[in-house]
Amino acid sequence: HSAGIIGAPFSKGQVRARCAVKDYGNLVFEHVSGDEPVGKLKSVRAVGSANQRLSVAMREVKEGGHTAVMLGGDHSLAIGSIHGHAAALGQLGVLWVDAHADINTPLTSYTGNIHGQPLSYLLHELQSKVPALPNFSWMKPCLSAGDLVYIGLRDVDPAEHYILQMLGVKMFSMSKVDQLGVAKVMEEACDYLSTRGKKPIHLSFDIDAIDPSITPATGTPVTGGLTYREGLCIAEHLSQTGLLSAVDLVEVNPLRGQTQDDVQSTVSTAVDLLLACFGRQREGNHLQDYCLP
Ligand code: ARG
Ligand code: MN
Ligand code: MN
Ligand code: MN
Repeated sequence: HSAGIIGAPFSKGQVRARCAVKDYGNLVFEHVSGDEPVGKLKSVRAVGSANQRLSVAMREVKEGGHTAVMLGGDHSLAIGSIHGHAAALGQLGVLWVDAHADINTPLTSYTGNIHGQPLSYLLHELQSKVPALPNFSWMKPCLSAGDLVYIGLRDVDPAEHYILQMLGVKMFSMSKVDQLGVAKVMEEACDYLSTRGKKPIHLSFDIDAIDPSITPATGTPVTGGLTYREGLCIAEHLSQTGLLSAVDLVEVNPLRGQTQDDVQSTVSTAVDLLLACFGRQREGNHLQDYCLP
């Protein structure tokens, strides 16, 4: 297989043997002027146009037959990433690994930050709850609530909790990870996603799912997160399914690290998670036709 990497440096809103990597380079986002708040929402126009570009880039990477990697940037970028992935391949299963649910609507958000809202824009079921926004007319919802699973939740706003319950969204909060263990959680999460057919899987991994003692360089850290090993277990398991089709790795923000060590530990954890997604196993790897000297 091969990986197509899209860098999305945007923050407003084994590698298995012979895994070819094509770097699509960083997207360039032009400045959007006159981007006044829409109600509480900040930088709506910039977020809308950045995601439109990302959606096109993601569709191209998927149509090129690659497993896509989108390096953010903030989690609002999942709008374009998942939209473009679905535009190329049709229905997806989405595994959302995050401390947060990111399912506020523009009307329920306390902060006005769009990185707390991408799933409300993407879900068919919430279409009537999301008003038309400038620079978002290019997109339509492309995901069903039954094709979404969360892991790692521990900071969910009341309106978000209501929405999750109303839609019956499958979730493995940190409490569930504590009760079942991460291996069982992954088994159940993958079983759940495959009951509606073996669809390609989109992993949207917010680095703040991992405990901030390991990945502190992020904008909205929440204590009590996944360990490094639990994170790797999630990535290794997904790699083994053979269904992993695109990965977002978002909310890594070097500017939010207090020290160089903070940044180093956050970035190297993100790299290890990506390598595990692409087949690097802790038990070791070797080429299929490996020959002892
Ligand atoms: N729930 C809060 C909000 O809506 C925090 C969201 C944090 N999201 C993130 N992608 N880090 O603003
Ligand atoms: Mn988060
Ligand atoms: Mn499985
Ligand atoms: Mn997030």
